[in-house]
Amino acid sequence: MAWVLLGNKPFKFFMTGVIKFQNLTLGYDRMPAVQELEAEVREGSLTAIVGPNGAGKSTLLKGVTGAISPLEGGVLIDGFHQDEIAYLPQQSQIDGSFPICVIDLVAMGLWRELGAFGRLTRKMRAKVDAALAAVGLTGFEKRTIGSLSGGQMQRALFARLLLQDARLVLLDEPFAAIDAKTMADLIDVIKRWHSEGRTILAVLHDYATVGTHFPFTMMLARELVAHGPTAQVLTSENQFRARQMCEACAATPHTCGKSAA
Ligand SMILES: Nc1ncnc2c1ncn2[C@@H]1O[C@H](COP(=O)(O)OP(=O)(O)OP(=O)(O)O)[C@@H](O)[C@H]1O
Ligand SMILES: [Mg+2]
Repeated sequence: MAWVLLGNKPFKFFMTGVIKFQNLTLGYDRMPAVQELEAEVREGSLTAIVGPNGAGKSTLLKGVTGAISPLEGGVLIDGFHQDEIAYLPQQSQIDGSFPICVIDLVAMGLWRELGAFGRLTRKMRAKVDAALAAVGLTGFEKRTIGSLSGGQMQRALFARLLLQDARLVLLDEPFAAIDAKTMADLIDVIKRWHSEGRTILAVLHDYATVGTHFPFTMMLARELVAHGPTAQVLTSENQFRARQMCEACAATPHTCGKSAA
């Protein structure tokens, strides 16, 4: 079995799937945001990533996608081709003013099948319609994304993820600012992905949702606080420690991390 260091070497496809964070430090301008992370995520697992604001959760997902390269260590991905990673960024990073309609946004999930001219065949259109129906957005095809509510936008983004048919799904705060009905519908989508054997990493702040729906949890406070079965990770001691670690880092960012030197 061979390993591939994401970011520094070409991505390859292997037989089994696992993500290993090996002494991983990620950051910006040499300032660590995720520090010396050692953890392993098995294929087919459903894992919540939790931690205070600024704990490095979004940074970690960007490290997995390869959007940012490690300052130290690596993200070792075995068994997933880069085409098989679907990524939902945190809402604040999505430009809702982009002049595009729902059907085009969702059809982007078929980018592997779309030809040079981006024409939707009848078969592709049927897939788009099915994805829109699955998230309850039938009839919204021609709406511009700027006219959607936050929850409708999130449903459209999930429809795009459905079409990507990815084995590894990364979700950054998928339920931020959406109502209970939309959240329940999108959790059903995540559960369907899980039952299909896909690997899911989702950043969440709501511990009740994590406790109810996510078997595994990784708690971050720049460094790893805990990782394992959710009930063992979401303890009040771990939550207290995570807050303390983040506050300590915020107070003295220049001493927080060897690679910042
Ligand atoms: N593009 C960037 N340039 C410089 N610093 C950044 C950048 N993005 C994030 N950071 C910093 O890295 C640290 C971790 O940020 P990150 O977005 O990963 O946190 P988070 O855990 O996702 O927080 P939140 O819960 O608020 O979304 C923060 O101190 C943040 O200010
Ligand atoms: Mg974030």
